[in-house]
Formats: sequence, C-alpha cells, structure tokens
Amino acid sequence: MTTIDGGQRRKTPIEPLVDRLEAAGGLDAAGRAIAGRVRKATAPTALKEALSGTWLGHAVHPLLTDVVLGALLSTTILDVVGGDESGRGRRRLIGVGILAALPTAATGANDWADSEYGNDPVRRVGLVHAACNVGALSLYAASLPARRRGDGLRGTVLGLGGATLLGISGYLGGHLSFAQGIGPDQTIYDAGPTDWTSAGDAADLADGQPKRVVVDETPVLLLRDGAQLFALHDRCSHRGCSLADGKVDGDEIECPCHGSRFARADGAVRRGPASAPQPSFDVRESGGRLEVRRRLLPA
Ligand code: FES
Repeated sequence: MTTIDGGQRRKTPIEPLVDRLEAAGGLDAAGRAIAGRVRKATAPTALKEALSGTWLGHAVHPLLTDVVLGALLSTTILDVVGGDESGRGRRRLIGVGILAALPTAATGANDWADSEYGNDPVRRVGLVHAACNVGALSLYAASLPARRRGDGLRGTVLGLGGATLLGISGYLGGHLSFAQGIGPDQTIYDAGPTDWTSAGDAADLADGQPKRVVVDETPVLLLRDGAQLFALHDRCSHRGCSLADGKVDGDEIECPCHGSRFARADGAVRRGPASAPQPSFDVRESGGRLEVRRRLLPA
C-alpha cells in the first residue's frame, strides 16, 4: 500500500535493495562480457528481428514470460491447493515452463544486450533478473525427480523456492520496463506540434545532411534532398538514439546504435531491431523558415 508521509511516498522495503543493485559495479565485468557475446550471437539481421519483435510490432519477451510464469506458478498453486492427485499435470506444467523458457531467455537476453551498453543500472538489474530465472528453472527442474518418486513434500518445497525466485525476477523485469523504460516505443511521449511550428532557418539545412532540431519540446530530424523535405521524430523508437547521428542511405535513414532502418518519407521500419515506426511530420518552407507539424494522415 502506498504510504504518504509529509506529502512524499515512503519507499517500500524493496526499493532500497533495487537502488543498491543498480549501484553494484561489481557486476559490470560479467555483465559486459555476457552482453557482448549475446550481441555477437544475435547479430544476423533475421535472428535479431525475430527476437526483437520487428515482425510483431512489439517486443516478444513480455508475451513469452506469461507462458513460463503461468506454467510454473500453476504447478506451485496445485502443490499448495491440490487438484492434481496423480502429479502428472504438474510435471507436464514444469516441462512446458522449461521448454518455453528457452525462447523467453533468448528474447530477453537480446533486449537486455541492446539496452545495457552505456546504461549501468540496466546491465546490473538485467543480470540479476536472468540469474533469478536460471535459479527458478533449476529448482523446478530439480523438483521433477522428487515428484516422480512420489516425494511430494520435497517437490513442493523446491517449487516454492522456484516461485520465490520467479517473484523476484518478475519484480526486476518490471523495474527494467517501467522504471528504466526498456521496451516501450521511445517516441510515444512527445508527439510534436499539431499546428505548423518553426523548425529553424531553411538556409541552415544542407542538402543530404540530417539535422536535429527541437520543435515544441520534440526532437525532430530534418532532411533535404534537392527540392524534397523530410521530417521524422529524431529519437529512435527502439532505444532512443538520435537518428540525426545516423546514416542516410537512399530513401532510408539508419540508426547509429543498432542499425534499424526507417523510410525517410513516412518512418516505416525497413529493418529491425526496431519494432515501431518513427512518427513522421509534414514539413514546408515558408518565408525562409522551415515549419513542421504532426502528420495525422499517412504520407
Ligand atoms: S536505438 Fe536501437 S536501432 Fe536505434
């Protein structure tokens, strides 16, 4: 329950622990080494897009975690409240949870490895999140032999240990998404102006060279190609890098961080890992000034 004290919410007992975890520099060496290997292993474009959810328009990891958590926690619920006298259902649920954990871990590791670079708290929390998951799976897996030989008490205790670790892992996973902002489309909080708004002197925009400006508190990438003008949200929808620091290649703009490509005309995703398009803006030249406004209809 939220506690109000003098107008400020008091921290829960868990939050100081997470603060300490975010500051735990001792995890960095292992975290960087593992993340580097994950990035190398997931570098091929097709694999990167599959794991990142480019095909889905959304991260895949949150969907898969439901399967793992649902199967394993259902086992523990049946252990406690009963309803599966033979134990076969619970053993099958553990099998489903372990099988589903493989793609779940792959998608999560991919998302984390794309996020931890230059973000110490995400590296550290993500590493412990993964360690808790490994521990939870190990405990559930270790409960299987006990369950098969009819040692229900041992199976239940091991399952409860696994459920506890899943709870810690779930909390940390939620922290990564909701406190650290890993996963959401990075453009959703600043949609840009609805009316024509000045974006600077037209003479300052060189041909073929993307330029970042801030319009109505929204970062906007401007691009001139001869007589044509283009304007996209400058913060990459994937992890927030500035597209203006990227590369223009034909009718696409490539993000400098993980290589996502967007169509310059309408921001459509041409290559992942991004799964959400870049918002695009109408842009015009008026009286020597460039003006942009949010595009409400497709280009
Ligand atoms: S921030 Fe990852 S591709 Fe742009």
